[in-house]
Amino acid sequence: MAIGYQQQQLHIEQLAASSLLQQYGSPCYVYSKAQLLANLQAYQQAATGLDALICFAVKANSNLAVLQCFATAGAGADVVSVGELQRALAAGFPAERVVYSGVGKTRDDMALALKAGILQFNVESIPELRRLSEVATALGLEAAIAIRVNPDVDAGTHEKIATGKAENKFGISWQQVEQVYALAAELPGIRIQGVDMHIGSQITGLAPYQAAFERMLELVERLQALGHPIDTIDLGGGLGILYPDAKQAVAIDEYMALVRQYFANKDCRLILEPGRSLAANAGVLLCQVEYVKQGPAKTFLILDAAMNDLLRPAMYGAVHDIWPVQQQPQRASQCYDVVGPVCETGDTFSMGQWLPELAPGEAVAIGQAGAYGAVMASCYNTRALVPEILVSGNQSALVRRRIEIEEQLSWDQMPDF
Ligand code: LLP
Repeated sequence: MAIGYQQQQLHIEQLAASSLLQQYGSPCYVYSKAQLLANLQAYQQAATGLDALICFAVKANSNLAVLQCFATAGAGADVVSVGELQRALAAGFPAERVVYSGVGKTRDDMALALKAGILQFNVESIPELRRLSEVATALGLEAAIAIRVNPDVDAGTHEKIATGKAENKFGISWQQVEQVYALAAELPGIRIQGVDMHIGSQITGLAPYQAAFERMLELVERLQALGHPIDTIDLGGGLGILYPDAKQAVAIDEYMALVRQYFANKDCRLILEPGRSLAANAGVLLCQVEYVKQGPAKTFLILDAAMNDLLRPAMYGAVHDIWPVQQQPQRASQCYDVVGPVCETGDTFSMGQWLPELAPGEAVAIGQAGAYGAVMASCYNTRALVPEILVSGNQSALVRRRIEIEEQLSWDQMPDF
């Protein structure tokens, strides 16, 4: 357990959260390198004997130091913008281990990715396919593509993160897909390489995957029978983790057993794009209690971290663990609404949360913050952008400094008029 209590003190690997807070200030994100790598190894080990490339979904945590951990350990990267592509390359992912998804690729984006020599474009529409053909031809290059197929299954997840239903903006509809492969086969500058899907995020059961894999398997066979060269099968990401309100989660090896069951003998390279399941449980947001406010009906624990630092609770109603940094078994518990200082009612981490009684200045950690945490942070309310720290054993490193207010002021300019 890379993040847990030792002698009643929350530790990230061998370092006490309290000493990290002292050193780096509050609030700050802290990641465990050992946990990041253990998560990747769970995928890699479960994929033994398969030709599988685990491409970390960079959107989940794009800090260069985090990316470097995965790149060095043999992973690939799934990017959805050229910004992410540049991060992936800077962190050491070879271009031939990078896949590029996303519905809005511009001509410049395509040119940059083509010149970098990425492994695969996951194409999401006919106009995108035509544009990619034009850009590749103009550059005298060839784009290796997979068509992102929308398998029209219900991932049973939050509506803001479901992507595989017919009404979502992602992928090519099930009905249209053969026609799009026929077009791709004719377009210059395009080389059909595989198929791609991604049905959503925080998926906590195997059934949606099973339904989608069924369809993909049938599709691969159909496309191959039509003479299309299908050498890669990209199954996207989406595997959920055990947030405190999740009734269940699927273990990485259970998920991989399903992948194996469907695709092991297809003689294709498998690509997986996990984000959350690689990074979420490897990170915490450390922060402090600023005030305890007694309202007429409720007691508010007002933290120095807010929705701008960790948006998930406000945006998706997500629930994260909240751990006192110092365990206090002898203290009475108290029911709190745990909130941040931002001027929005939605700036709430947890309502009706039972915790040991806490006093101003005491530290707490918000769990499962390694994925979709720092990447979704903003400076809303002109708050400093939280720093990020990577821990390995008894060592820690500042891997993104705090972006202070003075620096933010310097981003703006007064006009001449
Ligand atoms: N591949 C594609 C094409 C994706 O769109 C995504 C996530 C992934 C892979 C990685 O999915 P994961 O394994 O992390 O579930 N901000 C939301 C999550 C949005 C996910 C968007 N796409 C959250 O905080 O829950």
